[in-house]
Amino acid sequence: MTAIYSRIIGTGSALPERVLTNADLEKFVDTSDEWIRTRTGIRQRHVAAEGQTTGDLALAAAERALAAAGVKASELDLIVLGTTTPDLVFPSTACLVQHRLGANGCAAFDVNAACSGFVYALGVADKFIRSGQSKKVLVIGAETLTRMVDWSERETCVLFGDGAGAVVLEPSGEPGIYATCLHADGGFKELLYNPVGVSAGFRDEPNHGVRIRMAGREVFKVAVKTLDALVGETLEAAGMHEADIDWLIPHQANLRIIEATAKRLNMSMDRVIVTVDQHANTSSGSVPLALDYAVRSGKVQRGQNLLLEAFGGGFTWASALLRY
Ligand code: COA
Repeated sequence: MTAIYSRIIGTGSALPERVLTNADLEKFVDTSDEWIRTRTGIRQRHVAAEGQTTGDLALAAAERALAAAGVKASELDLIVLGTTTPDLVFPSTACLVQHRLGANGCAAFDVNAACSGFVYALGVADKFIRSGQSKKVLVIGAETLTRMVDWSERETCVLFGDGAGAVVLEPSGEPGIYATCLHADGGFKELLYNPVGVSAGFRDEPNHGVRIRMAGREVFKVAVKTLDALVGETLEAAGMHEADIDWLIPHQANLRIIEATAKRLNMSMDRVIVTVDQHANTSSGSVPLALDYAVRSGKVQRGQNLLLEAFGGGFTWASALLRY
């Protein structure tokens, strides 16, 4: 029997209009453009307007991906959306987007794997297609992470931005996604988390205590080590070698983490898609935003092999190796 692969047939992305540069940040927090650029590679980030939600960005990215794929929303039989900043507690943002697209009736759910959300969602969607359950699948990564940012906390506020990306998948006899690897270790919770929630309760603090807590240096070290092992595991799962990879499309958290992964793969930086300078860390939005940029700018071509990887709170880490 011919193997069923999931193939990406369209990509899309969306960013809020408002751009906040490092120079803008210098005006209200004790930081500098030089510090941010040299430690992270970030130059600017997009910030959602008041009232603009994760779902709004997800919808715009999804519409662009559907248009690129030539697929009508009514054809979709599954929507999987990675986010850690949903519009509402429930319904899921996937359900809200489904209705706004007019795809009512298909399965729709969110995946919360923090910054690995999109790659996790892609892994889940791939299994639905390989099993024969789904034929047209929309996978989205979307966030308004700046809603969790305390703008007076320089250790975190300079790092994050808002945005969304999406892909449409369909089954194919030709690759397609060769392998996905998904992992988590909840033992690292204290290094990167948001301390409040519906069940744990909120606090009598600004923004009800909703803000990112991060031990940056420790996260950095574990991320580099974990991604190093992950890319090796992914190549092995796909039966490929470093030289088979045309493009690395990494999670865009920190340029130095990206460079370390590229070095592990013996890849020069001109084969790595970098958008962290423009978008900062958009969590689940980061990989699909980078992918859509790579496709629309003409860098990534049909038939090339792409290695997608992400790391985030949980800790979670995940990868996908695919032929575009
Ligand atoms: N502007 C200026 N100075 C800052 C600053 C800012 N925005 N944020 C922190 N500093 C200061 C610190 O207070 C510290 O000062 P000190 O030496 O006087 O104590 C100094 O800069 C160095 O801090 P350090 O934590 O050693 O910097 P670093 O080189 O590790 O870079 C991060 C910090 C956060 C950029 C880096 O650790 C990182 O990117 N970690 C991973 C974060 C991440 O990717 N999170 C998301 C995962 S999905």
